[in-house]
Amino acid sequence: MLNKYSVINSLKKKNKTLMICNNKFTGEKVMIKIYKQGFEANCENERKVLSHIKSKRAPKLIEAIEDHINIISYVEGETLDQLIRKNIFGKDYALEITRQICMTLEEINLDYKHDIVHCDLKPSHIILNQGKAYIIDFENAVMGGDDPIYSNYGTIGYAAPEQYGLDSISHETDIYAIGVMLYEMIATDKNTYSDFSIDQNNYITLDLKSIVRNCTEHKKCNRYDNVSSLINDIKLVNNFWKQTC
Ligand SMILES: Nc1ncnc2c1ncn2[C@@H]1O[C@H](COP(=O)(O)OP(=O)(O)O)[C@@H](O)[C@H]1O
Ligand SMILES: [Mg+2]
Repeated sequence: MLNKYSVINSLKKKNKTLMICNNKFTGEKVMIKIYKQGFEANCENERKVLSHIKSKRAPKLIEAIEDHINIISYVEGETLDQLIRKNIFGKDYALEITRQICMTLEEINLDYKHDIVHCDLKPSHIILNQGKAYIIDFENAVMGGDDPIYSNYGTIGYAAPEQYGLDSISHETDIYAIGVMLYEMIATDKNTYSDFSIDQNNYITLDLKSIVRNCTEHKKCNRYDNVSSLINDIKLVNNFWKQTC
């Protein structure tokens, strides 16, 4: 089944092997994810979630093979991780990318009656192409009503407190990670986000600090309720700059 693909590149990860491939017959570029034994639940979860997503800003599940192989469409572009390392972000661009990530999350949730919470948003899971943000890696995503497959998941530094069992998972969980990513785009020290680093950072204007804070409050109830409120605040900050500059 895999012999219709030619391998361009492959990468071994802790729980899987990733292979960027070309379909020899159609020329389509795909990502083949071969999960190691013991990680079939991740494979199954990614399949289930991707099969509910209609948005063009997330990869498509092309084929599911046995219980451990997913063939997924390849998303062209640069990861946010690569862009952050290039240090190219001014305020405007950082806010625009944040707005794009919010719109992608909104679009992903458009066709599904329950919430899809990604639960592992971080710069290496955001791909930027022609100004649009694509979200990848739905292995850990939680669909409304489901219990997460792990008690401790996500990535340290981006995972919200509730991912350590302090509260339930909901939209606000992804908003926490969006706040951390915004901080990483605009912080000059490039330290991972913490309450301490944002307070000490004199380069970040108060309006941006307030957005990051409203995303990353420890208690979910103190964060933005949904991505639309965050988009609104981004618009307010942008309008204010336009009027004052
Ligand atoms: N569908 C895809 N399209 C393009 N690049 C991808 C795709 N899936 C994964 N990648 C690339 O591979 C990297 C690792 O993939 P990911 O699924 O996040 O594995 P892991 O979580 O184990 O690191 C991503 O950061 C991205 O650069
Ligand atoms: Mg990943």
